[in-house]
Amino acid sequence: MKALVLIGGFGTRLRPITYAVPKQLIPLAGKPMLYHVLDLLPRDVDEVVLATGYKADEVDRFVRAHPPPFPVRTVAEAEPLGTGGGMKHAGGGLGETFYLLNSDVIASADLAALGATHRRSPRLGTMALAEVDDTRPYGVAALAEDDRITAFVEKPPPERAPSHWINAGLAVWSRRVLDRIPGGRAVSFEQEIVPGLLAEGVYGFRLRGFWDDAGTRERLLRSQRFLFEAGRAGDRHRPPGSSGPGPIAAAADATADGATFGGPVTLGRGVEVGSGAHLEDCVVMDGARVGRGARVVRSIVGPGAIVDDGRQVVDELVGAASGDR
Ligand code: GDD
Ligand code: MG
Repeated sequence: MKALVLIGGFGTRLRPITYAVPKQLIPLAGKPMLYHVLDLLPRDVDEVVLATGYKADEVDRFVRAHPPPFPVRTVAEAEPLGTGGGMKHAGGGLGETFYLLNSDVIASADLAALGATHRRSPRLGTMALAEVDDTRPYGVAALAEDDRITAFVEKPPPERAPSHWINAGLAVWSRRVLDRIPGGRAVSFEQEIVPGLLAEGVYGFRLRGFWDDAGTRERLLRSQRFLFEAGRAGDRHRPPGSSGPGPIAAAADATADGATFGGPVTLGRGVEVGSGAHLEDCVVMDGARVGRGARVVRSIVGPGAIVDDGRQVVDELVGAASGDR
């Protein structure tokens, strides 16, 4: 089977970081978001198609420099086509059934079991569903006793949400769905297309365990905590001369002599953390600098950004331009 990964969004909820890099390349627990998503795919997937748009060249360059464990092809949109438009545009040659993945989902999910469930009885699609308290940012499903989806509403107000089971952004679809998407314009798959597919047999696959959409600062950092706890961190290097419980995933050339790590931290390539600085629950991206005695908590420091000596950064997204405030 092949997998289609949607990776063309603007990442508006992570600005200003996403002015510099696409959200899927932000590292959490020492590995870019996209690669955590690809980790979920069964090893027998024979091709991954990345439907790119915003900052497509950066994604392209990155996957060439850091090849994932699957053959990868990128198909870039000149204009944003939405999730459905992106599927239509990039969906040629996907085979009879394919995995459809959002690229900002961090989860413990067995996608081989999702595929097996899909093949067990004739149907158009099988969508992994996660149970959440606050359904507002998500697509919400109503389910029959046999897990058939009987209604689907994208981002309804709470009083119109039919359940607490939401589209987890991990699914298997028959290629036939692509014929149902109009070409040549932007289309939201979840809003415009999915409700009209339900009559042909779309089933839910209930996830248990951790699931989150890492598309906001809070949820990204929560996902990072999960990845460390689950032992799914990337490079676990710890800079010499640093102390504190961490956990920490730092690039081999990051320096942090005399700094302390009080919670989960990712340090990208070439990061310099000054002595006496304290970091917890944060991501500091490639080439960024955290000054001496600074404190960075529950924050993301973008590539090349500078946190001045002694500055307190709490619950912030720090971009390169705003670094010298
Ligand atoms: N190619 C392409 N083109 N991809 C896009 C575009 C586009 O125009 N717009 C968004 N994407 C990609 C994003 O990069 C992301 O990986 C995925 O499609 C979903 O977009 P988000 O912007 O993250 O959507 P969302 O989080 O508000 O909602 C979606 O995900 C939820 C689960 O996290 C929907 O699928 C919801 O139904 C779902 O519950
Ligand atoms: Mg999202």
